[in-house]
Amino acid sequence: MKISKALILATAAALIFAFSAVSCGREVPKTEQSSESFSVAGGTVESTEPEEATTEAEPEETTAEEPDDFPEGGKISGVTLSYNEAEVFVGQTLTYPYVYDSIDEVWSSSDETIATVDSVGNITGKSEGKCIISVADKDDETKGAEVKVTVKKSSGTEVVNGITYIDGILIANKSYPLPQDYNPGGLTPETNAAFQELVDGAAKDGVTIYLSSGFRSYDLQSQIYNNYVNAYGQSTADTFSARPGYSEHQSGMAIDVNIIDDSFIGTPEAIWIEAHCNEYGFILRYPFGKQDVTGYKYEPWHIRYIGKENAEAFRKEADKRDDVNLTLEEYLGIDSYYH
Ligand code: DAL
Ligand code: ZN
Repeated sequence: MKISKALILATAAALIFAFSAVSCGREVPKTEQSSESFSVAGGTVESTEPEEATTEAEPEETTAEEPDDFPEGGKISGVTLSYNEAEVFVGQTLTYPYVYDSIDEVWSSSDETIATVDSVGNITGKSEGKCIISVADKDDETKGAEVKVTVKKSSGTEVVNGITYIDGILIANKSYPLPQDYNPGGLTPETNAAFQELVDGAAKDGVTIYLSSGFRSYDLQSQIYNNYVNAYGQSTADTFSARPGYSEHQSGMAIDVNIIDDSFIGTPEAIWIEAHCNEYGFILRYPFGKQDVTGYKYEPWHIRYIGKENAEAFRKEADKRDDVNLTLEEYLGIDSYYH
């Protein structure tokens, strides 16, 4: 069994919306779902406007129509999961449900256009709708369990257990910290898979990209930041190192590639990353000349996974604004400074 499961069950639970609709089989009126604040398993979801959102980035009217009903479930039973209903945003990955029975797990989705599932049960939202994610025993396909998954498109700002999502994109910057105990245990599976693709793509172009720093826990970031403060003083450290709780590395969706210092600037690898990381679902998070916006100096080595769909939309927006150095803050209309 996967050792890390128990450790991240809390994370999984945090992302399971305790829709009374889902858990007791009735439809929730839209007004209940779109209220300012509603309960989730292990926490609260609040819907708020982004602070200082520009008019461009004003959250669109919620178009969240009730997706169709779940498809007919299969005929499998006899296996207990840590959850059987879940909600996930488009582009987000929900950590697998714990399988309490000892089976040879085979995971599948009733509709991969709505949600996919990987070989260990991590569920990723693809488009709005409902589908069934199943796990069956490889040796006895009548034995298994199901998860009813609702995929929603997030619009505007939602705070889920202390984590801010804007249009479904997790935000970690100087204005939007992560909870101290948020620990996905490593890079998210989607980030990891996308990075492998990127490394392979670069290799085909004769460029070697490697991971130098990926997931960093709150405690590790704390040590790194404090070392810089001791060496350079706080105001200088704040220009290139995030305070604990404010680093994207804690999200498991950020990667520093190759050389993590200014000698990386202008190298073929840096140029390749800047030109191609979007194709793999990443953005360059701290582009040149945008320190006033992001709060950090140019970091050509720091990429952030936002998903291929979002990265493509981001690139199009950059083209539209004729700004190759578009930042996530500008794209979403948010700020980044310590309040
Ligand atoms: N170097 C980036 C800003 C971090 O510390 O997360
Ligand atoms: Zn970084």
